[in-house]
Amino acid sequence: MPQTSLYRDTCFSNDAKIVIMSAPIHIPVLADEVLRLLAPQPGHVLVDGTLGGGGHTGLLAERVAPDGYVLALDRDAAAIAAAEQNLAGLAVKVAQANFCDLQDVLTEIGIDAVDGVLLDLGLSSDQLADRERGFSFDSDGPLDLRFDPSEGEPAWRLIERLAADDLANLIYLYGEERFSRRIARKIVQTRRASPIRTSAELAQLVRSCVPRSRGHSIDQATRTFQAFRIAVNNEMGALDKALERIPDCLKPHGCFAVISFHSLEDRRVKQAFRSDPRLENLTKKPIRPTELEVQRNPRSRSARLRAASRRPD
Ligand SMILES: C[S@@+](CC[C@H](N)C(=O)[O-])C[C@H]1O[C@@H](n2cnc3c(N)ncnc32)[C@H](O)[C@@H]1O
Repeated sequence: MPQTSLYRDTCFSNDAKIVIMSAPIHIPVLADEVLRLLAPQPGHVLVDGTLGGGGHTGLLAERVAPDGYVLALDRDAAAIAAAEQNLAGLAVKVAQANFCDLQDVLTEIGIDAVDGVLLDLGLSSDQLADRERGFSFDSDGPLDLRFDPSEGEPAWRLIERLAADDLANLIYLYGEERFSRRIARKIVQTRRASPIRTSAELAQLVRSCVPRSRGHSIDQATRTFQAFRIAVNNEMGALDKALERIPDCLKPHGCFAVISFHSLEDRRVKQAFRSDPRLENLTKKPIRPTELEVQRNPRSRSARLRAASRRPD
């Protein structure tokens, strides 16, 4: 169930905050394409299921005002708190919830269906920059990797308790890492001597047993971190439930847009948008960022946007 105790209406909140929060560093990806597909109009009620730094939420909110608003969800309480400050004055309501529970949130606020839903999957640059969360490879903070640190188990505990075969399967399945067995063996060997508790320790371990790929600048630890992050947050489970449930939250012709960052996600979205009888696929091929966008925002490099619209009953 969504933690609606954190449900807030930022439109009317002008109380002074004691905590000073910095401006978000996350740059919204494929912003023009998202606006074209969701086509926000004054009076629309739209959902941003992945608030993050609030970039897409802000762009949508400006366009649905004065009568409409954006309902923005995130599992991360820190993202919610920052948005309350950074988006104050815009037509935004925020709630700490998993996007797969959207239907429950809508019921709670008395809405049947919305004009559009956006999911921008994965983690934000703000989470990556927070050294206490363990998302960045050089962090000496705890290897946590949860979007909501009050739910589930941290990555270090998973690494401590899984058998070598299970570790290898997880790293292979969610990281598509071909050196998964080698990494799993090294984890088991290392943890016998001392526990692996920080991101810097895991990153160093992976780098010591995975060769650098020629011509690629990505860190050797990238795929392994992705695998543990996906596992501890049950990201595929949430996406599968969302793809099943969100079409029922849309008004006729309402748009469902999803930005994914790796093939595991994109495959699921493609399959659902092509085969779900409730939806009409709007993107035969995924929309990719232009070279200019990738230059300006390297994080957009692997983004793929797909969209579908709700067929009238
Ligand atoms: C890529 S960021 C979104 C960035 C945002 N679109 C922007 O422009 O600033 C993804 C966000 O979604 C959140 N998130 C990931 N999975 C979620 C889920 N199942 N439910 C709700 N939020 C989720 C993460 O905590 C993160 O803040």
